[in-house]
Amino acid sequence: MRSNERHLDLRVFLDVLEADDPGSVLHIPEQVGLDFDVTAVAMELEKQGRAPVIRFDKVGASPFPVVTNLFGDRGRYARALGVAEEELIETWAGLGEKTIEPVVQETGPVLDVVTTGADVDLASLPILNHFAEDGGRYVTNGIVVAKDPDTGVRNASYHRLQVMGKTRFGTSLHSRRHLWNYAQRAAARDEPIPVSIVIGHHPLFAFGSGLWKGPIDVDEYAVAGGFMGRPLDLVEGVTVPVEAPAYAEFVLEGHIVPGEQAPEGPFAEFTGYASARSTQHVIEVSAILHRRDAIYQDIVSGISDEHTGLLAVPMEARLLRVLRQNYPNVTRVAMPKSGTCRMHVYVAMKDPAPGQAKNAAAMALGEDLSLKLAVVVDDDVDVSSDQDVMWALCTRMQADVDVDILKNCMGAILDPSNHDGLTAKMIIDATKPAAGDFPPRHTIPEDAELRAQALIGKYGG
Ligand SMILES: Cc1cc2nc3c(=O)[nH]c(=O)nc-3n(C[C@H](O)[C@H](O)[C@H](O)COP(=O)(O)O)c2cc1C
Repeated sequence: MRSNERHLDLRVFLDVLEADDPGSVLHIPEQVGLDFDVTAVAMELEKQGRAPVIRFDKVGASPFPVVTNLFGDRGRYARALGVAEEELIETWAGLGEKTIEPVVQETGPVLDVVTTGADVDLASLPILNHFAEDGGRYVTNGIVVAKDPDTGVRNASYHRLQVMGKTRFGTSLHSRRHLWNYAQRAAARDEPIPVSIVIGHHPLFAFGSGLWKGPIDVDEYAVAGGFMGRPLDLVEGVTVPVEAPAYAEFVLEGHIVPGEQAPEGPFAEFTGYASARSTQHVIEVSAILHRRDAIYQDIVSGISDEHTGLLAVPMEARLLRVLRQNYPNVTRVAMPKSGTCRMHVYVAMKDPAPGQAKNAAAMALGEDLSLKLAVVVDDDVDVSSDQDVMWALCTRMQADVDVDILKNCMGAILDPSNHDGLTAKMIIDATKPAAGDFPPRHTIPEDAELRAQALIGKYGG
């Protein structure tokens, strides 16, 4: 769905999705509460192995419908990119290099309704309470766009945003990536960081902005344009010098307050735990912009398929690309849900030369601070299957020579076993020895398989 006559935005994506596959969007017309109901429906469907987009027409007293779980199914990521699901990671791995500069328009639908000054009230949005242990209501789908305090380059990243009053969010920059780096520099100079928080846009916008981890000197609105295949339309900010996407559903403007901290959390995280660990930054909101009939998009938080999928898909693509630059024999990368889709990675390599598996694993572990386990297997092992990877560990790994541990690395603050931001990182080489007479895996000849299928079809029901 990369091109159509209408602009690429959330509502176009949803309309086309539903027209093509009516079962992919579940409508709940009945009124539900702001507290837990939306997450409860999403998690109940997940238990049943179902992953539709869910649209709630009436949430609390809000006039805005709420859409959630758009990213709960990999098929929809593939659809946004216009490829088959099997091609998703390879396709994504090839994107991002080509950027397209955004275009600033005079006006745009996001300016349909603009609220500033004393009229700003975050309670006017259907901001949800997701899990029982959460410290309050959270925007889970906020892409925070800010400009580098020195270069002006725009960065975009998802951050959890806890409502702390009419015009205040508490947030956490625990990924300690670019926005955290901006905040460190701005705080040293006692300067605010103006931000535009984008809630609801076409998935390709999210892929190229909030989910994109590129170099700090690359403008992520231009990366988003690259993913969208056309310039991203922007409008000037109303109260901040940060441009807003013209076709976003909502944009909240404000600034990160220098030198101020507020207790934020706990928040149900991708780890499966309610985490109180936070960098405790504060955002003061100065304007709410939204489209007429705006759709409020939420992300199911916690260790849901939606939250973890958003972590796994871009990271699998990124690691595939980075590892292959040095090891072209890397065939697949998977971030298993058993490792929260963030902290464990499985890498498959074809005929790795002696020592190569460990080099590739070390490179993967250095790519992202959250990674604490890298398992390398041969390419006959299915990295999307925990069982197959564990079988390789069982039969191709000896712990005295195949396991290495890096101590005191920078790690995921949200990992409850992490010590003051530091973690150990483990490499497991579960590949066969390059030389020697390692036994072959047992197989059945293909013609016998076909005969078996025919026999079962004929007699087995
Ligand atoms: C749904 C979702 C929520 C996230 N929440 C946070 C958060 O609260 N704090 C944080 O530091 N990173 C969070 N992240 C991760 C960052 O958004 C991610 O690392 C981002 O790519 C960083 O961008 P940058 O590399 O351009 O700085 C979240 C990611 C997703 C997908």
